Amino acid sequence: QTRSYHDNIVEHYENPQNVGSLDKNDITVGTGLVGAPACGDVMKLQIKVDANGNITDSKFKTFGCGSAIASSSVATEWVKGKSVDEVLAITNSDIAAHLKLPPVKLHCSMLAEDAIKAAVQDWKSKKGNGLKVEEVAV
Ligand code: FES
Repeated sequence: QTRSYHDNIVEHYENPQNVGSLDKNDITVGTGLVGAPACGDVMKLQIKVDANGNITDSKFKTFGCGSAIASSSVATEWVKGKSVDEVLAITNSDIAAHLKLPPVKLHCSMLAEDAIKAAVQDWKSKKGNGLKVEEVAV
């Protein structure tokens, strides 16, 4: 039995995907840690990147509202299988539209966009500068 589009949205609230952590000291892992000034909620989103720059895994931990958790769940699902450059095009409006977030909850999806960008930035800084991983760990 196939699930309806609506059920898939609800699923991100009731059973968020990819909750967990990757090893932030792993040189192939990028970690984005961002906060929302509006409410103080915090989101950590991590990506694991292969030698071709493609994201093979993603995990999140969000200390925030249900919409932020659902946005994280969507974000981690969307980044998997894409390149680190492709995921920079994911916007909070894409996520908000997908989850049908009301305007008052738009900042929750913004956390997810910011976290994706921060994770890619962290991965690039680890890869590019040759520092020991401890020096760039979040
Ligand atoms: Fe702040 Fe949702 S209320 S992230």
